[in-house]
Amino acid sequence: MSNVRTLFRLWCVAGVASWCAAGSSAVAQAPAAGAAPKPAPPAAAASVPKINATMLQLMRGIVYPASNVVFAAQDDLSKQPAAADPATSPNPLTSTYGGWVAVENAGLAIAESATLITMPGRLCSNGKRAPVQRADWIRFANGVRAAGVGVYEAAKKKDQDAIVDAAGTLSDACSMCHDVYREKKGGEKNRCLP
Ligand code: HEC
Repeated sequence: MSNVRTLFRLWCVAGVASWCAAGSSAVAQAPAAGAAPKPAPPAAAASVPKINATMLQLMRGIVYPASNVVFAAQDDLSKQPAAADPATSPNPLTSTYGGWVAVENAGLAIAESATLITMPGRLCSNGKRAPVQRADWIRFANGVRAAGVGVYEAAKKKDQDAIVDAAGTLSDACSMCHDVYREKKGGEKNRCLP
């Protein structure tokens, strides 16, 4: 390991700049004094994120199925009826990547969904724009991100008690946003309005 670090430093000294920037990004947030200016990235239209789902579809397609994996993991995972063929199982818990690995991945899917929830331009099912610039919306999304990471950590430890706690934290994180932006007086036409 220390050899790897030494090698890494040597590369940095040798000026493999992009590599070093990537390797040190967690510690070095500001450019070093005297660092050579980075060339401007080429304009790449292909890198503009494209939105394909409404909030409703994102919730039903990604967030809800992943959350159900987490909620199911509050019970003994060995009680899940085995799939006839794990390779094609539509239940992540009984698939090839099943059991605790499926719970880890569900936590990460939920954490990543926070980025999707806050992408500018996403519409809600009633045609209103999701209020992705609002501070409370961003806070709620980050709450789901943190809860998803908590699930991941608990699943890595295969710790049943920790999963029960993490599932509770997750459920609270979902409700915090739903209380404000989903369960609206006047029904669905008012969803996503502050
Ligand atoms: C930042 C806000 C926010 C967070 C966080 C959030 N949701 Fe949602 N959710 C919404 C909104 C808004 C809607 C309604 C979207 C629409 O109608 O387009 C919704 C809709 C849903 C729906 C569909 C309801 C229906 O009418 O069919 C489900 C299921 C759902 N959310 C599950 C979850 C779960 C599970 C979590 C937590 C892991 C979560 N959501 C976290 C805002 C949020």
